[in-house]
Amino acid sequence: MDKGTPKAIHLTAYRPSTHLIDTVDLHVDLREEATTVRARLGIRQNPARAGAEPLVLDGQRLELVSVTVDGVPLGPDGYILSPDHLTLPDTPDTFVLETVVRTRPQDNMALEGLYKSSGNYCTQCEAEGFRKITYFIDRPDVMARYTTVIEAEKARYPVLLSNGNLVGSGDAADGRHWAKWEDPFPKPCYLFALVAGDLRAVEDRFRTRSGRDVALRIYVEPGNEDKCDHAMRSLKKSMAWDEEVYGLEYDLDIFNIVAVSDFNMGAMENKSLNVFNTKYILARPETATDGDFLGIEAVVAHEYFHNWTGNRVTCRDWFQLSLKEGLTVFRDQQFSADMNSAAVKRIQDVQGLRTVQFPEDSGAMAHPVRPESYVEINNFYTPTVYNKGAEVIRMYHTLLGAEGFRRGMDLYFQRHDGQAVTCDDFAAAMADAGGVDLTQFKLWYSQAGTPELRVTGEYDEAARTYRLTVRQTVPPTPGQPDKMPMHMPLVTGLLGPDGKDLPLRLAGEAAPGGTSRVLELRAAEQRFEFVDVPARPVPSLLRGFSAPVKLTADLTDADLTFLTANDSDPFNRWEAGQVLGVRILLGLVADIQSGRPLALPDGFVGAMGAVLGDAGHDPAFAAQALVLPGESYLGTQMAVIDPIAIHEAREFARRTLAERLRDRWLATHRAHAGNEPFSVDAAAIGRRSLKNLCLAYLMARPDPEAVGLAIGQFHGSRAMTDVIAALQLLAGSDAPEREDALAAFYDRWKDDRLVVDKWFNVQATSHRPDTLDRVRALLDHPAFEIRNPNKVYSLIGAFAGGNPVRFHATDGAGYAFLADQVLRIDPMNPQVASRLMGQFSRIRRYDATRQAQMRTQLERIVATPALSPDVFEVASKSLE
Ligand code: ARG
Ligand code: ZN
Repeated sequence: MDKGTPKAIHLTAYRPSTHLIDTVDLHVDLREEATTVRARLGIRQNPARAGAEPLVLDGQRLELVSVTVDGVPLGPDGYILSPDHLTLPDTPDTFVLETVVRTRPQDNMALEGLYKSSGNYCTQCEAEGFRKITYFIDRPDVMARYTTVIEAEKARYPVLLSNGNLVGSGDAADGRHWAKWEDPFPKPCYLFALVAGDLRAVEDRFRTRSGRDVALRIYVEPGNEDKCDHAMRSLKKSMAWDEEVYGLEYDLDIFNIVAVSDFNMGAMENKSLNVFNTKYILARPETATDGDFLGIEAVVAHEYFHNWTGNRVTCRDWFQLSLKEGLTVFRDQQFSADMNSAAVKRIQDVQGLRTVQFPEDSGAMAHPVRPESYVEINNFYTPTVYNKGAEVIRMYHTLLGAEGFRRGMDLYFQRHDGQAVTCDDFAAAMADAGGVDLTQFKLWYSQAGTPELRVTGEYDEAARTYRLTVRQTVPPTPGQPDKMPMHMPLVTGLLGPDGKDLPLRLAGEAAPGGTSRVLELRAAEQRFEFVDVPARPVPSLLRGFSAPVKLTADLTDADLTFLTANDSDPFNRWEAGQVLGVRILLGLVADIQSGRPLALPDGFVGAMGAVLGDAGHDPAFAAQALVLPGESYLGTQMAVIDPIAIHEAREFARRTLAERLRDRWLATHRAHAGNEPFSVDAAAIGRRSLKNLCLAYLMARPDPEAVGLAIGQFHGSRAMTDVIAALQLLAGSDAPEREDALAAFYDRWKDDRLVVDKWFNVQATSHRPDTLDRVRALLDHPAFEIRNPNKVYSLIGAFAGGNPVRFHATDGAGYAFLADQVLRIDPMNPQVASRLMGQFSRIRRYDATRQAQMRTQLERIVATPALSPDVFEVASKSLE
């Protein structure tokens, strides 16, 4: 940093704003030389702060043209200008401030504030982008009513959009035109949006429960109109679902979505004008995978749900980010579970948590769901805030029950509609509605780290009792050496010898009740005694993954196999197989590390064979159950991660299963290989995932027959899910056909940027030893664009995050490559550069050699002049 070390901002330092802004009138004049923004702000002193204080406005990269107060121009001695602020030392109690600034959106590569994507203007203001558009008090607890006039050349920018309702439009001189938008709802500036461009709208309508007719429009670049059906359907489903499940209706007559190619994140919930990464809108069966279709449904829902959880009730400050994000992720997860297979959805959400959030929780950037401090807020749009935050909301739901949770939500909206509030306010609404004490539960907001549970069970045959002893610990994390026990729901059932759930009766209860119980943990060690237990049961613990913890239970391999066959809870039926898989794979890792010969236990092969034999019953579930625990998750289970041994162990297991069950993989693949008409319902998706899983096992030993099947599928299928699955397998193999397949794919899809992203991804995640060289060469490919975040994530991000065996190669070349790319991207787009740093922040989880290699790169990064605060924060914390 040339400006010296960037400063951390602390939650404890929160103070209400000195001033409030009630109205904002913007005039945005878009021209090729520069954009001029005139802002007229109705400002008053905040009664919550006593005494007159200077007005400090945020502003970055703005050229100030003029300032007036109540119509009187201020000379340069009337204000103080710095790179980040415009300060007015002396202002009336209530006044109108008008500023005029110039900016150059065409030069904005950071994609924050006002920028251009494929020739169209768009904005991204969350978290602190509005200050790059105009001088403002850029914090979410300053809420104002906005009117926005946009003016631009009509031919180039026929579509002019902002928040709220269109209240006027017309032509202007010189082939220009204007539109005036008015948003009746007061909002924080991070929800402001503006779009101007040559876009085409796909239109539909939705009638709300109370009879409001809402015009729905999805704006895309010309030529993409035929890829919006799924997004539009998803939007209508989301609107109906939120009415049905939460009683929440849409509150304006128009809802717009704009899809842009250059976007740092997934999407943004700007009031009535959501802006999306094209990746989460555009889809046709030939271009999008099942995962893409599900992702679109989830993200469209997520952004729509923000209208209530985020926009109507917003965050007081950015430490409260999970107030809206954790809650909205939970809501989109519930929605997707209702629309598709609930069991598969839960399994995938937990896999995501374990693959991405658990590693974050044990790394240098570990932070609580409500962080206590940050240098750069953009670094805290994390799996912890989003996904662990969603697990926290899920725990309220489990502790209070569905009805109690709904009462809590109703109370939250009743109390806080139109306000900017905190996670404490949310917890208070839940506690009051549920009549429960959530004081200890709130530790989930302040303690970082993944809690660990150890459970032992003892059956007393004579007394017919079964006693569970649960011990919990929370590991130390940076800045938090000592932790307190957490309050969490441990949903538990007991299986009798026949595999059926036993009715449950705890000691002291008059009668049995239910077969699944919410046991509430609060202490470091707790006992639960079940009475009237006729025979030694097998416990089914943490059903549905009722708390985001690492669980160790004293179950034998036989118990686990029994659970995989019998548990009535589908998540736990899957999980038992995973626990068994982790056990076996970690055993193989140890064998590799000490040079012992490898063998896969017959019992495990048999259990997998049984699941496969039964796959026809529930292909979607079987497809999940037959996947071995992932390399990243296996790493979280080791004291020191050994990425090479983990990869070898897992590949050995896959090859062995491929060989031993070859006929069954073949038969199952064949059974599903026929070209059924394409549909994205859960059953069809399940069949495709099972088929592609079988192909993946067959390709674990790529004999000519397997390669032939992959090539046949690659050329023969019209669904991208199947095509890309086959291509991925070919690209990772030694089959001589692989280069032809990659070339054919590129040739077929070179004009579709999102499909080309997949082509980069497939090559970046190939386990072939030459992958790093190939990734380097692809940086110079004409289709690669260093300024497009999707491209960077598909090539560089996928290599670093999705290919551990190559990224962590013993020569350290992967680390040097990543550091080079971070330093190249940082001057253009700090958010994207910082996101790529994720792997470095896990530095302490590796052996001494890898730590030293990563340290060399991190030191090189922090020593670089003019580093962004984003990258500086991650690099310096990783070195601590
Ligand atoms: N609120 C958006 C969402 O989760 C994410 C925007 C984050 N943007 C950022 N630059 N950090 O839907
Ligand atoms: Zn969100």
